[in-house]
Amino acid sequence: MNEEQGKSNINETIIKLEGLSKRFGYGDAASFALKNFDLEVKRGEFIMIMGPSGCGKTTLLNIIGLLDTATSGSYFLNDEPVNRISPRRQARLRAKKIGFIFQNFNLIPNLPIIENVALPLVYSGYHKTRRLIKASESLDRFNMKDKEYYLPFQLSGGQQQRAAIARAIVSHPEIILADEPTGNLDSKSSITVMDELKRIHSEGNTIIMVTHNPALTSYATRVINMLDGAIDTDIKTVKDSDLPVPIERKTPKKIFKSRKKTAKKSKKKGKK
Ligand SMILES: Nc1ncnc2c1ncn2[C@@H]1O[C@H](COP(=O)(O)OP(=O)(O)O)[C@@H](O)[C@H]1O
Ligand SMILES: [Mg+2]
Repeated sequence: MNEEQGKSNINETIIKLEGLSKRFGYGDAASFALKNFDLEVKRGEFIMIMGPSGCGKTTLLNIIGLLDTATSGSYFLNDEPVNRISPRRQARLRAKKIGFIFQNFNLIPNLPIIENVALPLVYSGYHKTRRLIKASESLDRFNMKDKEYYLPFQLSGGQQQRAAIARAIVSHPEIILADEPTGNLDSKSSITVMDELKRIHSEGNTIIMVTHNPALTSYATRVINMLDGAIDTDIKTVKDSDLPVPIERKTPKKIFKSRKKTAKKSKKKGKK
């Protein structure tokens, strides 16, 4: 990667929705879950979406996550129009770029935790052993390595959600979508899960999370309130220029430059 590419990765627009609408049903039975929806998301934002039940939050996440397509309007993912691409291509992009976390964890009941976590790597081209090693590393990050060969039902809700987070990030996606991830958890497990999301965010990842809990908005850099398929209020609590930058995206040139700077500084100090 050259320096130009490295620069453009910093706080660039990662998601752009323009005039997006989603209709369910036809004719007299038609209703719009999203109405002419516009949204621009910068890399490194942690967006919390709130709003009454039925206002379109899940529909929005499903469209952003390429699990569903809008009826009209445009969706650009890293500047690429993706609303009209084939389901096959959607699936590939989704596997590469997006991690999902759901309210009910969505772990497959008869698969051991490690195999659940390895599932998103099916598209990676790795052999099964490699996939299981990656899954094990991901579980280790969430202190869940000792639960690898448990079945989901043998874990508490908080542990299941941590396994689900390990699954969401196993393929290092740039975007994490979470639909009420703490909705089924007690307050202690909720805090653990939120702290894990905070850590993932601080590493420069983009998170969009739906929640009903106003107390959790303190973790966000931006809070959006939805009403009837549209944005009601949209408040950024962190400036774009203060959003976290992906660590691994620092180009070698930049690292070299910053090393030079520190070397100079320490030289100056030495002279004094
Ligand atoms: N598959 C579907 N078929 C028909 N209507 C749907 C479907 N999914 C969602 N809706 C409708 O779209 C609206 C928004 O739903 P949803 O996005 O699930 O809201 P939220 O997540 O904010 O509770 C609701 O009125 C819901 O009934
Ligand atoms: Mg919902």
